[in-house]
Amino acid sequence: MNKNSLDFPVDEKFAYWRDRWLNKMLGWHLENPHPVLMTHLNDWLGDDGETQRSILFPLCGASVDLGCIARRGHQVVGVEAVPEAIDRLLSEYGEEIEGGRPPDARLWLRVGQPNWMQKVAAEQLSKSEKRSMTYQPAPFLFAVQGDFLAFDRPAASQWGFPEFDCAFDRGGLVAVAPSDRPRYAAVLSEQLRPGGKLLLVVVEHEPAFGPPHSVDESEVRRLLGSAFEIQKLSVVDEKDKEPWKAKGVKRFDEVAYMCTRKGGALPAE
Ligand SMILES: C[S@@+](CC[C@H](N)C(=O)[O-])C[C@H]1O[C@@H](n2cnc3c(N)ncnc32)[C@H](O)[C@@H]1O
Repeated sequence: MNKNSLDFPVDEKFAYWRDRWLNKMLGWHLENPHPVLMTHLNDWLGDDGETQRSILFPLCGASVDLGCIARRGHQVVGVEAVPEAIDRLLSEYGEEIEGGRPPDARLWLRVGQPNWMQKVAAEQLSKSEKRSMTYQPAPFLFAVQGDFLAFDRPAASQWGFPEFDCAFDRGGLVAVAPSDRPRYAAVLSEQLRPGGKLLLVVVEHEPAFGPPHSVDESEVRRLLGSAFEIQKLSVVDEKDKEPWKAKGVKRFDEVAYMCTRKGGALPAE
């Protein structure tokens, strides 16, 4: 059942993002799964092909990555502040059903049910994926609507979500205000189990602007280094892509890291 998005109060803090969604100014949105996710999928999932993983997508927008991973049989939870983004995410996955779980005062849980007859779902898969695809019912797709900074362990466990095995952050850390980064990093760290893997995609650019804000390696290590072992995976030069080329941006790199959650207690925020 699709609740009218306008019924959801949206914090003034998200006015910029809601305006982008309402006016369809979604330059970051990709029609296909993110190349970094596809390249490092097995390492990230620790995949034996059998085990169902619980996967967190902070600041998920309406990314097709969520459906792609849920259709592989994993339990996917996205967190997104703008209701219209979640409308799109769930309608592209299947149909929205009544969550039936008690809402947190600041966070709403919305649930999508897969629709295997939906042609678009099959078309999002590559040819090799189609060949190997066994059309088993995929799990529900969970979307937490609200501020990721409020999605701490107590909020997640109230809905029965375990510590997550994996997280994919593309366009998340670079989207929040720099002053919110320590809280953002703390929430991400506490949501992953020891040994869990965060695949992180950030951007580095000159001159400074944002969002997306430039987050360099020293900042990644400052924010996440105490909770994660961090390995740099790749750097892709995107300065000749639009809109960066037209803006005359001097440097625009997309940088990926694999971050493995260390064991033991987390340092204080
Ligand atoms: C740059 S987009 C990236 C979306 C997605 N990860 C992707 O790759 O397509 C950032 C998204 O984060 C959402 N957002 C921004 N701040 C947020 C917050 N504090 N909590 C939840 N969502 C937030 C915005 O509405 C927007 O959809």
